[in-house]
Amino acid sequence: LKEGPLQGRHIIVTSGPTHEPIDPVRYIANRSSGAQGTALARALSALGADVTFVTGPARVPPPQGVRIVQVETANEMLSAVQTALPASAAVFAAAVADWRLAESREQKIKKKPDGTLPVLQFAENPDILATVAQMTQGRPDLVVGFAAETENVTAHATAKRARKGCDWIVANDVSPETGIMGGPDNTVTLITEQGTEAWPNMSKTDVARQLAARIAEALA
Ligand code: C5P
Repeated sequence: LKEGPLQGRHIIVTSGPTHEPIDPVRYIANRSSGAQGTALARALSALGADVTFVTGPARVPPPQGVRIVQVETANEMLSAVQTALPASAAVFAAAVADWRLAESREQKIKKKPDGTLPVLQFAENPDILATVAQMTQGRPDLVVGFAAETENVTAHATAKRARKGCDWIVANDVSPETGIMGGPDNTVTLITEQGTEAWPNMSKTDVARQLAARIAEALA
């Protein structure tokens, strides 16, 4: 049905934040809006890809014309990605929580009359990008990660690419003064095996289109 350079290619995109429950009414989250991941899924679909969009509770509406899998936690996101495999490419734009509660409570935590404060213990979440990038069988041909940094963006992202074992890293500066997190624009540096490319500031839609075009080239 769909036409374009990515016709017949299955591509997984993760997007949005994750929510890690503390108790039945509270959770830990982050400021990701899901805008860049949503734009990417839309751009890949526009090039003909068969997109599985695995999204946490995002603030922007999901794209149309793609398979949407809604999840809440990092563990659920990992399962959804594993269920969606195999894929030609996987792009990990989600802002996955690094930690979850070691044990989330089954009942709402009550305030103690004597003022004793609750103590929360954390457990590390799985790294979805690294898990997929380091698959020994059935690894997607192209695995792309994002790196939201607040300083030494290129150096940190280059190290992250090596550590996680992904093919490309799309790095950006999310310092509050950039307005990137939750905003309409993005300034990214694409880090590949060939080196680094600083892209000019543009809309998240344009970042998505250019990235989708590069992915199509790489898979061709
Ligand atoms: O290490 P950091 O969180 O900065 O890495 C960011 C990249 O790793 C993003 O592509 C993000 O989607 C992915 N990631 C992941 N699972 C995690 C943490 C990060 O897939 N638990």
